[in-house]
Formats: sequence, C-alpha cells, structure tokens
Amino acid sequence: MRKNIVAGNWKMNKNLAEGEDLVNELVSKLKGEKLNCEVIVATPFIHLASVAKLISGSPLKLSAQNCSDKESGAYTGEVSASMIKSAGASFVILGHSERRAYYGETNEVVKTKVDVALADSLKPIVCVGENLDQREEGNHFEIIRRQIVESLFHLSANDFERVVLAYEPVWAIGTGKTATGEQAQEIHSFIRRLVAEKYGTSVAEDLTILYGGSCKPSNAKELFANPDVDGGLIGGASLKADDFIGIIKAF
Ligand code: PGA
Repeated sequence: MRKNIVAGNWKMNKNLAEGEDLVNELVSKLKGEKLNCEVIVATPFIHLASVAKLISGSPLKLSAQNCSDKESGAYTGEVSASMIKSAGASFVILGHSERRAYYGETNEVVKTKVDVALADSLKPIVCVGENLDQREEGNHFEIIRRQIVESLFHLSANDFERVVLAYEPVWAIGTGKTATGEQAQEIHSFIRRLVAEKYGTSVAEDLTILYGGSCKPSNAKELFANPDVDGGLIGGASLKADDFIGIIKAF
C-alpha cells in the first residue's frame, strides 16, 4: 500500500538543545491528533540518538540526511548506515541536490549508498531533480530518468519496494519558488511510469513519491491533491513546529 509521508529535512540547522525543543514541541502538539500521513524528521547526525528517545511512543519516525558509502573502517569523519540505524533512525535521505552540488555525489555514489543503507535495514529517501538550466533546455525528464535508472534500477523488486523517492526541482529548493501542482504531477507520473516499465504496475503503484522545494502550509494542499504526489520533503518550513504541522495537516 502506498503511504503518504511528510518528512522534515532540517539540513545543517539547530544545535542539540534547539533540535530537542523542536521535537518536544512537535510531539506534544501532535499528541492525540489523527494523522493521515507518516511523519519523519531528518536531523543532523548528532541529534539522532537523543531525538530517537524523545519520539519513542509518538507517531514520529527518524531519518538521517546522509550516510557513508562505506560500511565501516578507517574513513575519518564518516558516519555509517549501521551507526545511524543503531541510533534509532529508520530512514536516510540520499542524493539530495545539495550533496550532489557541493560534495560531488554522482548517481554512482548514490547507488552505493542505497546498497549500504538497505543492507543495514535503513529505508533510503532518494532525491532526484533538475536544475533551472536543465529545465529550460527541456532536459529535465532525461536528467531525472538517468538519476533513477543509474542509482536504483540495479535493485531487485523486493529491495526497490523499501525505497521512497523525492522529486525536488533544484530551482525550487530554498528559493520560495514552488513547482505548481501540475508541474509536480507531470514529473511524479513520469517517475511512476518509469518504475512501472521496470518493476511492474503494482510496485509502481505502491511507491511513495514526495515533492520537495519551498513546500509550505499555504501550498501543501494544492501539491498533495495530485494523484501521484504522496507527500513532501520539507526544508525551511520543517524548522518551525507550527509550519511543519500545517503541512502535515494538509493531508
Ligand atoms: P526547502 O527545501 O523546503 O527549504 O525548499 C527542501 C529540501 O531541500 O529538501
């Protein structure tokens, strides 16, 4: 069954105390609410273990924002998928456009990280999306197709079923410029067709595809109303409990 998900990507924001405050506020404000989506917070690494304790018994789930492409060993400064899992997270965001742009992550690197994450029972939230030039040149479908084929289509159907996809047009991230519901739907249905060609309709129908890029309480309803938009990956608006809850309530 396809799940609706709203995931907050904190990026490199909030010190430990501020992160704990935000999570405590979310947990208390969501208590007793009937939620029509799964809610995930993707915190910096150092927050994971304490946030895991704070959300226990609540509907919130925990994600990291990245993991190493190596399993363990002499890789100074890296954090492995198994460490993330042991801290209490169940998801990891992979291939975010900021990682691709600033840290040289290629589709090949994302592919390796997907394998490492799945091997350690973490569900990858894999981000794809075109930049403004690519869209203006009309290359966006091909860019997205290659990101998906090259980082995910080596997986078995069983493994693919543990993946969540996020379409994040780079021109909409942190810019205040949101894709219209129509633009999001066009790409999401393209992605679902691509997955159907490879893994069959039933796997494609069960796949959760999130939209990300300047999603906020005021536009979430319009975006989520589209049949192939199954929720959002939220950056800026996930840093304030009321804004994040406003988006969660759009379902
Ligand atoms: P934004 O970021 O909501 O601040 O645009 C989304 C993301 O990068 O995941």
